This record gives sequence, C-alpha cells and structure tokens, in this order.
Amino acid sequence: MLRNDMLEQWDRDNFFHPSTHLAEFARGNAPHRVITGGQGCHIEDRDGNRLLDAFAGLYCVNVGYGRQDIAEAIADQARELAYYHAYVGHGTEASITLSKMILDRAPDHMSKVYFGLSGSDANETNVKLIWYYNNILGRPEKKKIISRWRGYHGSGLVTGSLTGLELFHKKFDLPLAQVIHTEAPYYYRRPDLSMSEEQFTAHCVAELEALIEAEGADTIAAFIGEPVLGTGGIVPPPAGYWEAIQEVLARHDILLVADEVVTGFGRLGTMFGSEHYGLKPDLITIAKGLTSAYAPLSGSIVSDKMWKVLEQGTDENGPIGHGWTYSAHPIGAAAGVANLKLIDELDLVGNAGRNGAYLNKVMTEALGDHANVGEVRGEGMLCAVELVEDRDSRTFFEAGRKVGPSVAAALLEEGVIGRAMPQGDIIGFAPPFCLTEAEADEIAGKTAKALAKVLG
Ligand SMILES: Cc1ncc(COP(=O)(O)O)c(C=O)c1O
Repeated sequence: MLRNDMLEQWDRDNFFHPSTHLAEFARGNAPHRVITGGQGCHIEDRDGNRLLDAFAGLYCVNVGYGRQDIAEAIADQARELAYYHAYVGHGTEASITLSKMILDRAPDHMSKVYFGLSGSDANETNVKLIWYYNNILGRPEKKKIISRWRGYHGSGLVTGSLTGLELFHKKFDLPLAQVIHTEAPYYYRRPDLSMSEEQFTAHCVAELEALIEAEGADTIAAFIGEPVLGTGGIVPPPAGYWEAIQEVLARHDILLVADEVVTGFGRLGTMFGSEHYGLKPDLITIAKGLTSAYAPLSGSIVSDKMWKVLEQGTDENGPIGHGWTYSAHPIGAAAGVANLKLIDELDLVGNAGRNGAYLNKVMTEALGDHANVGEVRGEGMLCAVELVEDRDSRTFFEAGRKVGPSVAAALLEEGVIGRAMPQGDIIGFAPPFCLTEAEADEIAGKTAKALAKVLG
C-alpha cells in the first residue's frame, strides 16, 4: 500500500480528535494511530500491528470486522439510491424494512421507531418527545429528567447533562437545570462496605424517592438509565434494582427511558437489556449494535402509550416539528437490515451470552486473586476489572497515578485493546459477539500479564 509519510504530521496539525488531550496530541506526546483494516475480532494499523480489539471499537462493532454481507448491502444501496429524506411520509425499502425488523425484536408494547444517527441525537430526540408528551397532556411543569451519576447518554448539551461523568460537565457549563442526578447503582462503590446487595438496592431506591420528594413528582418527567452502566464503569445492577426502581417510577407517573445503545441487539445475550432485566420502558434508545457501526444510525423506539399522545399532539398542532436531514439515511438502514440478518443467521446473540459468560469466567480465574483487583464483574459480552490500591479496605488509587491507563497501555503492548474507563481505574472489555473461547483466553492471559507488568 502507498505510504503517506506526512500522515502523522497532517493528523497532529489538522485533526480535532474527540476525547483526546488536545495539547499533548498536538505536541506529539499522545499516541497517534492509523487503523487500516479489520477482520473478525482483530484490527490492523499501518505500522503492521494486528490487535485483538476487545472493546469492539467503542462497543459497537458487534458482528466483528470485515463482514462482506454488510459491505455489499451498503454498496448496493449507494449505487441504487444513496439518499432520499424521510420527511412527510417518505421512506426507502431499507428504512421501512428495518423499522419492522426492530419492532419485531423489541418488547411487545413498543410501537414505532424514529431514526437518527448517533446515540447522542437519539437521546436528544427522547428528551424532546418527553417534553412534547407532557405538554400535550397539559402538564407543562412535569419536565425534569432524572439520570444516574456515572450514566452515559451522550455528549451534546442535554445528553452531556444526562451523562453523569465529571469530565463531560467540567468547564462546559453542564448539567443543564432540567437534568438532575441520583445515586449510581454501583455495589462495589457502596457507601458502607457492610451493606448487602439488597440493602444497597434499598439505599438507591431511597435516594431516588428522596430526590423525587425534594423536587416534587409533578416536576419530574422521566428517568433514564442503561440496563448495565457502561462508560461509567461497566457495572451490572445490584439484585432487585430495576424491579424496585420501576415500582417507584410507576407510582409517580415518571416515564422510563432504557438507553440500550450498548445493550441493544444482543450484548447481554438477549436481544435487548430490557428483556434481560424485565424493564418496561416508554422509550428505548438504540445505536451502535443496530448497524454494528458499519454506518451511522440510531433510533428511538416509542411505546404505544407515548405514541398515542404523539398522534394526539399532531392532530392538535400539525406535523411533528422534529427531524434531521439524515433521519433514516438509506445507507445506514441498508447496513442495519444486513446486520440484523447476520446476527440471526450466525446466532450471535446466543454466542454473546455463551462466550461472554466464558470470558467473565476466565477473567475472574486469571485476575480475581491479584492483590490489586478489587472486582471482576460483567454480564453477557461485557466485563470490567476494577483496580484498587488495597482490596481489604477498598482503597482506590489516587487518580493522578493513572493506573488504569497504564494497564491498558501495557495490554496494548501485548496486542490486546481494552479500554481504560474514564472515571476510576477500571479496564473495560466489550468484544465483538463472534469472540471465540481461544480469544477470550488470550484476553485473560494478556490482561494478567499487563497487570503484573504495571503492579507486580
Ligand atoms: C449508553 C450510551 N448512550 C448513548 C451514547 C452516545 O452515543 P454516540 O456516541 O453515538 O452519540 C453512548 C456512547 O457510548 C452510550 O454508551
């Protein structure tokens, strides 16, 4: 392949990378990497490294790299009709088919799907629909959205506010006033080590009740949560959490948004996380796994209950004042159709459940006894290793030591990509669903080696 020797210079001079230390990158002190190819669970860079991508990009390349069926579907769609809009009743065979395929897989009480491009814009759509809904119902005061600390819902103005991570708020004047946060359902970080999981769930529920009480239920429209906290640390909920939270929300007439950007389409070994944890959401956010990131596409799946009110709203006010030029983009939709077919044909949801459980087992075996491993946890094809200075007293490392990033860097040197999660010394794993047992063994073995290198 032709090698452009200027690429690194051009990159550092011109490219504003997301989630990057801008100054260090421009100065040449932060890594620059050019990815050139991918196959299955592996990617290649232009320096000839072949890396096992145990985070599937940003937990999105769920079917793995190099799937020709999806590439062909995208190419065919681009040749036939690269673009037409979806406004005023227009569609394409791909977008209409995909909406049916999504509803066929979603919980029974869901009614329609609105298409966007990213998880962030889908959550932005959700907030608008929630506000519209309560205005149509004649309760204009009921507008606040409750999110959880450590939740991740995007990085726009509203969605960055929903996100409960410090880095996404600091110096951006976020969160906006309409968004309020409650306790993260993060048992390992429970306030009192003597609490059982059930007691901690009761504590989270009490915190939510207290927040609702303080703000007034008539000011709160919705609660948003990921079935399993993702970017906040890959944290499955404590026992009984969702059941208890849903009871509180129902009692106060507060809508539930299940943000399934990570869990949708199989990551937990079920088609949706809502199915896995018995959620009955009013809105479901989907993105990433909808196309396995072969093309940008997201969606908001709307329940029957909300849909009826949206219809009433347009009877009273005219067409819904919401839409993007690229809503239901035909190329994204074609990728989505091919992706969901492939997931079924290869039983990748089943594989995510089986080999995800295997990954969690071998990670626990390889790492669980290390003096600096506080917890190995996961669900389906999600796994996290939380590092601590002292596990008996649960003393965390001082953030400035950057222990998590150092372990992730050492792991990269071994040829495996894990992700240093942004808050805490937590290494996250979310491989493609086609991960084999041998690849899971490799991740576990190399993570143990990286850990030994950094922490002894
Ligand atoms: C649960 C969740 N919601 C929303 C988003 C935002 O999606 P995007 O980055 O496509 O805007 C993400 C991204 O990681 C996510 O994990």
